[in-house]
Amino acid sequence: MSVSNPVVFVAGARPNFMKVAPMLRAMTAAAAPFARVLVHTGQHYDAAMSDVFFRELGMPAPDVHLNAGSGSHGAQTARVLASFEEYLLSGATRPRGVVVVGDVNSTMACALAAVKLGIPVAHVEAGLRSFDRTMPEEINRLVTDSICDLLLTSERAGEANLTREGIPADRVRFVGNVMIDTLMHQLPTARSLAVPESMGLAPRGYALVTLHRPSNVDEPRRLTALVGLLEQVAARRAVVFPAHPRTHERLERFGLLERLRGNASIHLRDPLGYRENLGLMADAALVLTDSGGIQEETTALGVPCLTLRSNTERPATVTDGTNTLVGDDLDAAWASVLTVLDGSYKRGRTVEGWDGHAADRVARVLIDAWQ
Ligand code: UD1
Repeated sequence: MSVSNPVVFVAGARPNFMKVAPMLRAMTAAAAPFARVLVHTGQHYDAAMSDVFFRELGMPAPDVHLNAGSGSHGAQTARVLASFEEYLLSGATRPRGVVVVGDVNSTMACALAAVKLGIPVAHVEAGLRSFDRTMPEEINRLVTDSICDLLLTSERAGEANLTREGIPADRVRFVGNVMIDTLMHQLPTARSLAVPESMGLAPRGYALVTLHRPSNVDEPRRLTALVGLLEQVAARRAVVFPAHPRTHERLERFGLLERLRGNASIHLRDPLGYRENLGLMADAALVLTDSGGIQEETTALGVPCLTLRSNTERPATVTDGTNTLVGDDLDAAWASVLTVLDGSYKRGRTVEGWDGHAADRVARVLIDAWQ
């Protein structure tokens, strides 16, 4: 194995870790003829947002930590861009390729740094589009895909989007969904932890809630209305609400934290580890979320998912899966909750390429392109 000219895998924020873990495993299994280096940008840094994922997903400690931390979009992106460029220039040997995943600020910043140095970049989870440019992630996706050399898509809509944007077909490969590899790998262990039972919850007897998008949590009127919806749900089922640090801060600032804590049916928690969250998701009656990844995970699990957004970049979760976009209309959200509770909610089916083997296909593509 050539230890010079490694392939660099970048992980920066919580939703990146479960995508990188299966690729590192698959590269080893495929005996990739080059070394792998793992770079953590430090966009997420709390133990609950980062360390727990490395431990539970069996990831090696990062070879390089850029410690970029939080900040405005400009400041955070600039710090990652500058420090990743410095890293790429610092080594004795030049990386033969860089792999970025998803749509966070670290994804775009690292792709930009590498491409400008003439290093080939592969983007895993390419081609997803919400067509909503007010979302920071949509800008990250557009920029990243327009500059990367290899675009590896997770669902068929990704290929259609890239074709429409004029990306040559020879840059695009459909590989499926690496995050679902991790889900399938971890599900037996997650179930064995009996997480719902340890919280006194019966399987299918509770709703799981996650919220962190600026459009839902930054504005007091919207967040207050969402807390009202959670109270409505809590009158019928227990509600488990692990709050992202950003959401926790806003709940406190808008005076909503005590209201939630005062409701005996609402379990407000710190962010959960991967397995705890998966164990809770797998046995939930329903999930209410604004996350991108959770829309996919609930589809893979066959659990009803009501997404508190009016668009999704992951349309297969709606057309094939168990996801429904309930948008801004909380009456519509409540109507959907009722269909879940009365058993008339739609059932989903398996999405192509969400089969637990996507990372093997990624490894094949990378080895063919970069060996
Ligand atoms: C980022 C991603 C988003 C992803 C989400 C998952 C971008 C543009 N957004 O959003 O796509 O869905 O991660 O969580 O990249 N904070 C902590 N501890 C941490 C990290 C963050 O307390 O370890 C707090 C800080 O106050 C920070 C805030 O959370 O300012 C937001 O973090 P940031 O990484 O900027 O964006 P997210 O909202 O997490």
